[in-house]
Amino acid sequence: MLFDLNPKTSSKELFGRERELEELIRLVRARRWVAVLGPRMVGKTSLVKVAGAELRKAKTKVVYMNLWGAKGTHGLLKVMARGLNDEKSILQEIKDVAQRVEGVSIGPSGISISISRKPMTTVWDLLMAIGSKAGNCVIALDEVQELAAISGRLLKLLANIFNTHPNIVFIFTGSMFGLMKTLLEPTSSSPLYGRSPARLYLNPFEKELAIRFLRKGFEEQKLTLRDEIINEAVERLDGIPGWLTLYGNNVAVRKLPHQKALEETISEGIKIVKDELEHFLEGRDKQAYLAALKATAISARWTEIKGAVEIAKASPANDATIYRIIENLKAAMLIEEKENVYRINDPMLRTLLLTSQIT
Ligand SMILES: Nc1ncnc2c1ncn2[C@@H]1O[C@H](COP(=O)(O)OP(=O)(O)OP(=O)(O)O)[C@@H](O)[C@H]1O
Ligand SMILES: [Mg+2]
Repeated sequence: MLFDLNPKTSSKELFGRERELEELIRLVRARRWVAVLGPRMVGKTSLVKVAGAELRKAKTKVVYMNLWGAKGTHGLLKVMARGLNDEKSILQEIKDVAQRVEGVSIGPSGISISISRKPMTTVWDLLMAIGSKAGNCVIALDEVQELAAISGRLLKLLANIFNTHPNIVFIFTGSMFGLMKTLLEPTSSSPLYGRSPARLYLNPFEKELAIRFLRKGFEEQKLTLRDEIINEAVERLDGIPGWLTLYGNNVAVRKLPHQKALEETISEGIKIVKDELEHFLEGRDKQAYLAALKATAISARWTEIKGAVEIAKASPANDATIYRIIENLKAAMLIEEKENVYRINDPMLRTLLLTSQIT
């Protein structure tokens, strides 16, 4: 069902991403590591999961790991165990080797991890077991920014795998913030230097595609909505598949009237975006960043952003500061630049800032 709120897992349910799906599979088959990028709710997890399902059909082993909330090495280990338990074909092949890894035990119900004294070594040994025993396989790390706290050790480990086990291909997704940026733009001193993953961008649906998405979803539910209604939803939600899905679900499953469904979608979206923005602002100059963001809510040039920051701080700002703010906002995918004009691409974030629901 198109309006299912979970990430999609089969190509039948994935709408309008044929090209991206093919590209992801092609890169993985060519053993390129890939980073799937795009704004919140655009469908990154769905794309990765569907690609995983397609690759499995072609007998490639795929381990999917959702790192949300994992934070440190122990978290990573737990997520690894869960991922491996979902992909029994790998477990079968690495069983004998993995059994001997400290902190790992394998029983009838699968792999389990006890508190190991050196969790990073356990991670390493498990990956080596996969690398030497499991043949061609794909490891998808979703919400990879969650590992930012252990990024130094993780990058070294990844570089090592890259060199020693070309049969393991990694797919990374998550927000661009933090670790993702280090993965994608490694400096010459980074262990990943020269081994940066290929980038695959997911854009919101163009207007026509977004309209077709809603129509098809409503058709599945035996509903026909008037053109004006569909148009309004598409416009307010900017073609972001996740918001369109939530809106469609509100109408078709929860049976809310159009306006109410739209309002609830937007307020839900604003809540998510607000949490994320607050997380981003921790430890930063909140006043300056919010001023810059508010300026770009409609759209702004460099000098306008600078002016807005200066007004907010009631003092002159130097160019390097403004440059850094803009770079960080871009890196976090909060704003986009086109021909020297900066703009927020997420409609929820725009509304949040324009209606002063954050100060
Ligand atoms: N191409 C698509 N076809 C059908 N449904 C989609 C598509 N893309 C996204 N969705 C739906 O939109 C919602 C968000 O998708 P998903 O979780 O894959 O996005 P995401 O980019 O990983 O989001 P997040 O930024 O929260 O991690 C889900 O309900 C999913 O089912
Ligand atoms: Mg996701």
